[in-house]
Amino acid sequence: MASEQSYLAVTCTAPVNIAVIKYWGKRDEELILPINSSLSVTLHQDQLKTTTTAVISKDFTEDRIWLNGREEDIGQPRIQACLREIRRLARKRRSGDEEDQLPLSLNYKVHVASVNNFPTAAGLASSASGYACLAYALARVYGVESDLSEVARRGSGSACRSLYGGFVEWQMGEQADGKDSIARQVAPESHWPELRVLILVVSAEKKLTGSTVGMQTSVKTSPLLKFRAETVVPARMAEMIRYVKERNFQGFGQLTMKDSNQFHATCLDTFPPISYLNDTSRRIIHLVHRFNAHHGQTKVAYTFDAGPNAVIFTLDNTVAEFVAAVRHSFPPESNGDKFLKGLPVKPAPLSDELKAALGMDPTPGAIKYIIATQVGPGPQVLDHPHAHLLGPDGLPKPTV
Ligand code: DP6
Repeated sequence: MASEQSYLAVTCTAPVNIAVIKYWGKRDEELILPINSSLSVTLHQDQLKTTTTAVISKDFTEDRIWLNGREEDIGQPRIQACLREIRRLARKRRSGDEEDQLPLSLNYKVHVASVNNFPTAAGLASSASGYACLAYALARVYGVESDLSEVARRGSGSACRSLYGGFVEWQMGEQADGKDSIARQVAPESHWPELRVLILVVSAEKKLTGSTVGMQTSVKTSPLLKFRAETVVPARMAEMIRYVKERNFQGFGQLTMKDSNQFHATCLDTFPPISYLNDTSRRIIHLVHRFNAHHGQTKVAYTFDAGPNAVIFTLDNTVAEFVAAVRHSFPPESNGDKFLKGLPVKPAPLSDELKAALGMDPTPGAIKYIIATQVGPGPQVLDHPHAHLLGPDGLPKPTV
């Protein structure tokens, strides 16, 4: 291999995903194996994405990582687990080769830089897109072509679902080594073109209990979580996959809300209890149910992760009216023009009947802004060298 490259740079992007059947609880902390399967929708990268550059070079003397422009500790156990795993897969792929024929690049150190196009302060999960992007970029530089579920999962459980676009299932698996705990696409991003997603950003505060610690306590103390994982989720997974395949919004929306509510119920059943929702979250829940009751059918559905922000699913023909209802109930405090980000939404009038049906006193400023988005594709490679976040010296490019 005389012509082997001594330097290689790759830049990728990866999406955020939002679970409609939630993952909460691990059966193996080290391998990050879940106690139940989960299902998510991949959000479009035009609105939310992580971009990651990985560079390997014979001249690098150590692995290094920069997140959002700041150098971070590469020794962090979850980053180390991803690196170890990718290098193991790279060796395995060439296990037929003689030791002296293994590409030298397998021993090269790597520099990684990663940025999000959305503010981490918005309280939106960035670990899923972050670790999916890390796994994808490392796989490209080290020449790994196998399934990357395990690599991404070792960073953050939910990250394995960000490896695919559209609708994605993370099968919990049964094996102790986790080899069958993998993500798989249930339907591609083109499957349900009318589906829309609105992220209602409620609070920028840092949460009191992170998901990793929160789910540990839940596994130890919540009998409801055990019942959920063993009895409720298996049936719900099958049901949700059917609703997605049939593009049945009534079924999809109702089950999404029920599963979010049950996840938050297990948090309350945890001891000491965990609460991620706040008053604004509960007002949003109320608003959604009143809106649906007014229409006599499920036209919008909410889901909440480990924080107070709401993610709303609806169809394109309902977006404008629902956004008007949100504006009415949560009037923007300032910057009314910046209230809506992402996909354009036409202003729509709100009927007096609907206003009356909502039956809520407005809470000004409780929702900071809305991001309108849709279902999107999985990770992408950016071919243009301009896309690289690291220069030829392997250091972050100065931001302009
Ligand atoms: C509520 O994947 O962030 O968002 O595996 O410990 O990194 P770790 O947890 P993480 O948990 C996500 C929990 C959730 C539900 C979900 O995304 O399925």
